Amino acid sequence: MMTNFDWQLHKKVRVLLASNDATLTERVWAFLEQGGDTMPIGTAIGSRECIEMLKNHAPDVLLITDDLPGEDVLDVCRQAIHIHPRIASVILACQSHYQDHQYLHQALDSGVCDVIHVEPPYTTLRYQTIIDSVLQAYNIIQDRVSGVGGGIGRVISFFSFKGGVGKTTLAANLAFLLSSQEDRSRAILSDFNWQFGSLETYVGHTASQSVLDLIPVLDGISRTDLENIAPLINDRLRLLSAPLDAERVEFMRDVLERDVLEDDRASFIDDALAQIREQQTVHINAGRTEYLELLLKKEKVKQIVLMLARRTIHSLRRNYHYVVLDTPSHLDDVTLTALELSDLVVLVCTPDLPSVRATRAAMNVLEEMGLRREQIAYCVNRATRRADIRSDDIRNLFSGYDMLGEVSADFRTLQPFINNGSLIAELAPNAAMTRELRQFAAHVTERLPVARAA
Ligand SMILES: Nc1ncnc2c1ncn2[C@@H]1O[C@H](COP(=O)(O)OP(=O)(O)OP(=O)(O)O)[C@@H](O)[C@H]1O
Ligand SMILES: [Mg+2]
Repeated sequence: MMTNFDWQLHKKVRVLLASNDATLTERVWAFLEQGGDTMPIGTAIGSRECIEMLKNHAPDVLLITDDLPGEDVLDVCRQAIHIHPRIASVILACQSHYQDHQYLHQALDSGVCDVIHVEPPYTTLRYQTIIDSVLQAYNIIQDRVSGVGGGIGRVISFFSFKGGVGKTTLAANLAFLLSSQEDRSRAILSDFNWQFGSLETYVGHTASQSVLDLIPVLDGISRTDLENIAPLINDRLRLLSAPLDAERVEFMRDVLERDVLEDDRASFIDDALAQIREQQTVHINAGRTEYLELLLKKEKVKQIVLMLARRTIHSLRRNYHYVVLDTPSHLDDVTLTALELSDLVVLVCTPDLPSVRATRAAMNVLEEMGLRREQIAYCVNRATRRADIRSDDIRNLFSGYDMLGEVSADFRTLQPFINNGSLIAELAPNAAMTRELRQFAAHVTERLPVARAA
């Protein structure tokens, strides 16, 4: 059986199909199912439904016919980009539009990636035409989002499968340095360790609100919503906190699975699965509907949490030049979402074998998830000349990936800042470690320059 994780790790391009012609839908759906790299995720038969599905499912590609009931298709495509900046839209032109150059220009100006001519009864419509167009559109948008230009913010996340390597220390100091550049980039630090976020402690802040407070405005998280919840923690940098200590127990109870799998509930699931496998109607005894309800509630909470993660990042990207995400050292759905939506994942590696192994494992997993090599880099932390494993050894091991920074081991200097909840890069601008951090920040900005309106 394929688990949620399997699915996320072997990511296919998720396509939403918007058409009210059943024959066309059936044919294109079959193509998308056959395609090894594509997966149809739903159909909409009107523009309104299409927008709703975009909000809820955040597909990678939208295949939309130009005769969809409701709003004009180009307006729908523009709204789609607004809701979901990474959407790649392809128009299936049933009307004579495909011959109209002005229309084609208008479509491309609206951010549409391709226009394909389709004509009933669609027998001439080829599998390869659809699949090529979908994959090409997806790649165009991936390049656009991660490349220079586009006026979209840059999301940088710090990750490692190994704990205690310095992810949070580096994330907080890097965010500070990015926020204090002369070009006055807007930067925000966001704690994506939702089970036990500790960023607050590193920046000496006590939050009274967290990312969970964005749930009521999930349908359209504005800059004001973000600013209400993510206060300035110094002159220029904002912090969006993970669920607060007081919210933790409730949050964990909602997202973790343990009680769902216990005893009677496990046998309930087994029975239901057996019935489904034997293609029988699933019967649920009166006494057991509560298990089903519990399972569905958990599923719903999971869906909301994921939607919150995804939409928060989209909104951060729309409103800040640099978005720095700290993550935990394990993969959960929220972390996967953060990594998947990052322009750059910085893997933090310390010069010891377990950390080197963890970094290599993360590189493999990220590539399996569909991140391109250019989106993955690493930073060596706690480097020391005395270590058996030198930075050069690490560089050789990870050739093909950029080393963006090298920060020396110096706990004696760092300790007071950690214990006071202050940032070394802010309060000790002349410290050797700050110089290394500045160099690291310079490599990051070189790698991900912020596009600005001319
Ligand atoms: N360059 C360094 N030299 C010395 N000590 C360091 C250095 N970088 C980080 N540390 C220390 O290592 C410890 C762990 O750092 P940090 O909390 O940033 O790691 P982490 O990867 O975020 O951990 P976790 O997996 O628990 O989230 C902290 O006490 C920090 O002060
Ligand atoms: Mg940490």
